Amino acid sequence: MIKKVLFAASEIYPFAKTGGLADVAYALPRALKNLYDVTVVMPLYRSIDKEQYSITPLGKSFTISMGGEKYLVDLYGCSVDGYSFIFIYSPILCDREFLYGTPEEGYVDNGIRFALFSYAITELLKLRKYDILHLNDWQCALAALLVHKDHNHSPKVIYTIHNLAYQGIFDSTILESVGIERDYYTMGSLEFYGKVNFMKAGVAYADEVTTVSPTYAREILTGEFGCGLEGFLHFHQNKLSGIINGIDSEHFSPLADNALIAPYSEFKGKKTNKTHLLKQIGFKGINKPLFAFVGRFTSQKGMDLLIETLPKMALLECNIVLLGEGEENYHQSLSLVANEHKNIHLSFGYDEALSHQIYAAADFLLMPSLFEPCGLNQMIAFAYGALPIVHRVGGLVDTVKRLETYQEDSCSGYGLLFSTATCRSLLSVVKKGCELFEDKKHFERVINHNMRCDFSWKESAIAYGELYEKEKK
Ligand code: ADP
Ligand code: GLC
Repeated sequence: MIKKVLFAASEIYPFAKTGGLADVAYALPRALKNLYDVTVVMPLYRSIDKEQYSITPLGKSFTISMGGEKYLVDLYGCSVDGYSFIFIYSPILCDREFLYGTPEEGYVDNGIRFALFSYAITELLKLRKYDILHLNDWQCALAALLVHKDHNHSPKVIYTIHNLAYQGIFDSTILESVGIERDYYTMGSLEFYGKVNFMKAGVAYADEVTTVSPTYAREILTGEFGCGLEGFLHFHQNKLSGIINGIDSEHFSPLADNALIAPYSEFKGKKTNKTHLLKQIGFKGINKPLFAFVGRFTSQKGMDLLIETLPKMALLECNIVLLGEGEENYHQSLSLVANEHKNIHLSFGYDEALSHQIYAAADFLLMPSLFEPCGLNQMIAFAYGALPIVHRVGGLVDTVKRLETYQEDSCSGYGLLFSTATCRSLLSVVKKGCELFEDKKHFERVINHNMRCDFSWKESAIAYGELYEKEKK
C-alpha cells in the first residue's frame, strides 16, 4: 500500500519564504508525490493570501494546553498539483509581521510559538494514520519528542537539519511554558549548556536524521562546524546521513521563466537578459563580466569577506550586482562600498523576480559562504548559465566541481572554488573568472555544459524514499 507521509516545515514557497528551506519544502514533496501520499503542513502566517491560494477552513479546531495556557488552533487547507496542504492557524503563531523576528533578533516567544506548531503537528497524527513524519529544522523538532512520549502514534520520524546555526535555544524556563517534564532536561535530551535546545529533540528522538549534503553531514561532527552539537551528533552518528538538495526544475527554468524578458536555453540567450538588467540599473558594459550575489546578508554567506573584497574587485574591468537583505551592520557597510564604486549596484529586499533576472544576466555568481549546509543558489546559477565562484565548504563541495578538471561528457556542474576564506584567495579566483570570461569559446562551452546538467530532485527524492522504507530500528 502506498505510504502516507506528513511533511512539516515552518516555511514553504510560495506561501512564505525566508531562505532555502522554503524551496526544499516546496520541491521535495512535489518530487515525492508520485511515490507517496504526501500531506504538507505549515503555519498559516498573516502574510499568506488565503484567497490567492484558495486556502479554506477545514472545519476542524482543537485546543492545545501548554504550561497552564490554552491555545485554540484552527486548521485550513488547500490542494496543489494533486497533494494536500494543511495550515495551522493560532494567533500567537501566525499574527506577526515576520516569520521568526528581525534578522538581528527572534521573537521572545518563539519557543512557545513553535512548540505549539509541534503540538499541532502531533494532533494531525490523531486525525489520520501517517506512516512517515518528516520534520524540518528546529521549528518542528519538538514534535519528535512528543511522538516519542506518546506511544499511541507510531509513524517513523525523519528529522532534517537544514542549518545548524539555528537550533532553537531558549532559557530553561521554557520547559514549563511548553509543558515538557523536567525529566527531559538532561544532556542526552534537551539540555544544552544550561539552556533548552529544540534541535536536540529532533536529533535524539527521530528514527533517522539527515542533513542537506554529505560534506555538511561530515563537517557537523567537527568543532569548526558543529555549533556545539558535534559531540551529540557523534553520539547519534549511526542514524545521521547527508542527502543533497535539488532545485525544482520547473520553477528554475530559464526557458519557462515569466520573470525574464527573454527566456532562453543556452548561453547565447543570456545576452538580451544581461543588456536589459544593465539598462535597468543604469550600467554599461555588456562586454564586461557581470558578477552577482543573491542571498541573506549574514556572516554565514561570507559577508565580511565580500565587503572586504568588493572595493578591490570594483577596480577590475567588471560590473557587480548584489541583492539581499539581512543584518543592519551589513546593510550599512555594503551601502558605503556601493556608494564609492560606480560599477557596484546594490538592491535591498527580497525580490523573487529580480533574483531570477540577476541569475539570467550574471556571468558569475559569488558564494563566499563561511559554511553552507547545501546552498541552492549555485544550482540555480548552473541552470541559468552563471558560473559559480564558491568557497570550498559543505554542499558547495558536493555540487560544484573544479573547472580545472572539466570534462565535456561528465554530468557535473563546474565552477571556480577557493579554499581559504581570505580576501586574497577570493580576489584571485575572481581574477581567474575575468580571464576565463575573455576566453569566449571555452566560457560558452562550460556554461552550456552546466546548463544541461541535472540538478533536479530526482535522485535525492529516491534517497529520501529509501530512508522512508528502511526498517524502523
Ligand atoms: P539559505 O537558505 O541559507 O538562505 P539557499 O542557497 O539554500 O540559502 O537558498 C536561498 C534561496 O533564497 C534561493 O532560492 C535564493 O535565490 C533565494 N534568495 C535569497 N535571498 C533572496 C533575495 N533577497 N531575493 C530573492 N531571492 C532570494
Ligand atoms: C539552509 C542552508 C542552505 C540550504 C537550505 C535548504 O538555510 O543555509 O545551505 O540550502 O537550508 O536546505
